Amino acid sequence: MATAELAGKHLVLGMSGGIACYKIAELTRLLTKAGATVQVVMTEAATQFITPITMQALSGRPVYTSQWDARVPNNMAHIDLSREADAIVIAPASTDFLARLAHGMADDLLSTLCVARDCPLLVVPAMNRQMWQNPATQRNVAQLRADGIEVLGPDSGPQACGEVGDGRMLEAAATYEAIASFFQPKILAGRRVLLTAGPTFEPLDPVRGITNRSSGKMGFALARAAQQAGADVHLIAGPVALETPWGVIREDVQTAQQMHDAVMRAVPDYDIFIGVAAVADWRVDHISEHKIKKTAERVMPTFTFVENPDILASVAKLPHPPFCVGFAAESGDLDVHGEEKRVRKNVPLLIGNLGPLTFGLDDNEVVLFEASGATKLPRADKQTLAGALIAEIAKRLPDTSLIR
Ligand code: C5P
Repeated sequence: MATAELAGKHLVLGMSGGIACYKIAELTRLLTKAGATVQVVMTEAATQFITPITMQALSGRPVYTSQWDARVPNNMAHIDLSREADAIVIAPASTDFLARLAHGMADDLLSTLCVARDCPLLVVPAMNRQMWQNPATQRNVAQLRADGIEVLGPDSGPQACGEVGDGRMLEAAATYEAIASFFQPKILAGRRVLLTAGPTFEPLDPVRGITNRSSGKMGFALARAAQQAGADVHLIAGPVALETPWGVIREDVQTAQQMHDAVMRAVPDYDIFIGVAAVADWRVDHISEHKIKKTAERVMPTFTFVENPDILASVAKLPHPPFCVGFAAESGDLDVHGEEKRVRKNVPLLIGNLGPLTFGLDDNEVVLFEASGATKLPRADKQTLAGALIAEIAKRLPDTSLIR
């Protein structure tokens, strides 16, 4: 999450009844942490699962539960609340609430303000798998989609009732990601983005290997930003301890050769390739089958190295390459090395950063190298920077990149 990425957004968070109400405590915390203001509105049933006091403490605002709330001077809570909102999110959205929404019913505060809204509406269903599969529910959900309402989830897995299947509410973090994504302009809609991220691991023997200090944070932040911009995103990751960004397809690899093979298999389906991984330049020509032992004579092991394939250069060399973006981590003379590397790798855009200074950190400072010259972007946290880089990439895409 970027610092305050939802600053200035005002959400009405509507809760209907269901055991998934407990997830909304965490969701509220995530939304407010990201800078959004959250106005909670609960149905009578929701208050049976979690108290309005809890939701008030977490959102920092009094909660509305009734149409007849004396705090609203004009008695128009159903109008006033939605007029201030950038979106209404119903989470959890129960079977009953979805049905009432699909039929435009307005028999309590939450349903009435949904009907009276002039802002987008997102629903996050949560129910037992049989209730989700019920043809009436499926009909209602299809109707809501046809009415332009965003349906987030549901997830699949174990349910509170002990059964397993579709219908459980997305986790709070996934719901947060879907909401954050909803607010981003879809500048990469219809585009397909392939990225590499993280280090590679080149084994020496069954327990040891050579790797580097890349954390994968920049590549994962770019994958998230590309997904939020509306692209289909496939992330090929070396060994990193990071969660897969929401909505992104991830493939894990260890070695440079595996990363190369995975990229070459996938790349014909993609418009844009962003090579963020810190790929090892060399690997040993022979991986010892057994753990290399210390000897009594203290003879030091020696290794012969062979060069790994250059993934970015291989992609750029394809007869119909996607729009290729490279990264360069230099410890000095970035201006000279950045442009030289861009030309050598034959890519239209290369993003240079002062590598050793940014490894593992949450912020970064980069320079864009392209044929027309170099442009510096202001220092920012990696997620904010990723959003800015995706916007820069989107501006430079040739129109023809969709018809490869
Ligand atoms: O040559 P150097 O490693 O500095 O180049 C960095 C850029 O090239 C990055 O975009 C990186 O992902 C890519 N690269 C690659 N395959 C390699 C080496 C680097 O794709 N074997």
